[in-house]
Amino acid sequence: MKHNIAVSFTDENKIADAQQLATKLSLPLITDFETATFDWILLYNQQGLGLYRPPEKLSSFFYIDFLAGKLFYRLQQASLKKELLARAIGISPREQPVIIDATAGLGRDSLILAALGFNMILLERSPIIHALLNDAMQRALINPVLAPIIKRMQLISADAIPWLLNQSADVVYLDPMFPERQKSASVKKEMVILQELLGNDMDSEKLLEMALTCARRRVVVKRPRLAGMVANKKPDFSLTGKSSRFDVYLTRVV
Ligand SMILES: C[S@@+](CC[C@H](N)C(=O)[O-])C[C@H]1O[C@@H](n2cnc3c(N)ncnc32)[C@H](O)[C@@H]1O
Repeated sequence: MKHNIAVSFTDENKIADAQQLATKLSLPLITDFETATFDWILLYNQQGLGLYRPPEKLSSFFYIDFLAGKLFYRLQQASLKKELLARAIGISPREQPVIIDATAGLGRDSLILAALGFNMILLERSPIIHALLNDAMQRALINPVLAPIIKRMQLISADAIPWLLNQSADVVYLDPMFPERQKSASVKKEMVILQELLGNDMDSEKLLEMALTCARRRVVVKRPRLAGMVANKKPDFSLTGKSSRFDVYLTRVV
């Protein structure tokens, strides 16, 4: 999806970061962001790097915050038994499995797994989402509860389809964007922003195919609870929660 995006800042301490990001992403750096005619502004303000949509109110600014109430509470309460995703992964963190989250997005699923003790490799192909997630991870490093968790997360800016070629992992985890998400009334603000910014991941069939060649033990695919399977491919089993389902494909590669 093509958007007209610029980089800006409200926090004067972040001018150098803003310049660096604009150069890295080949985007214009602007100062008068509130009257600008861009679809989105990647904005450094006091909370961190986020997305602002002119001419909306600055209060609608979106950024990734691992300290946000619900998520932070969930990661403090998380247990291998309670978290359906951990049960779908099906391996103890003590075995130190190599787990690739090939669709990192806002990093929440990886954060939960890292909080449970897993070392995570996160791949994100959108340079914008990668920048937001990277910023959130840097900010989280100064929090004593989050720091050890974040240190178990390695974020890489890459498209997983070519990246997974010739790689090997115990588990590959996928949570691509699907058209069905658009129709749900309960879609959260952050998912709406992801949808608007990125559209749907139309190549998830190819991604699943690649993940199946790379995973030594299993591929786990997150789906809306009642949605169809990726590529109509029947999983070995599924675990279904309140709003999501995890389709688990066991692999036999040794
Ligand atoms: C629904 S979001 C994932 C949300 C994530 N599980 C979380 O907990 O925040 C899907 C993300 O996967 C990314 N993505 C989709 N296909 C990808 C690929 N082939 N390689 C890397 N990232 C991909 C998209 O850019 C998007 O940011």
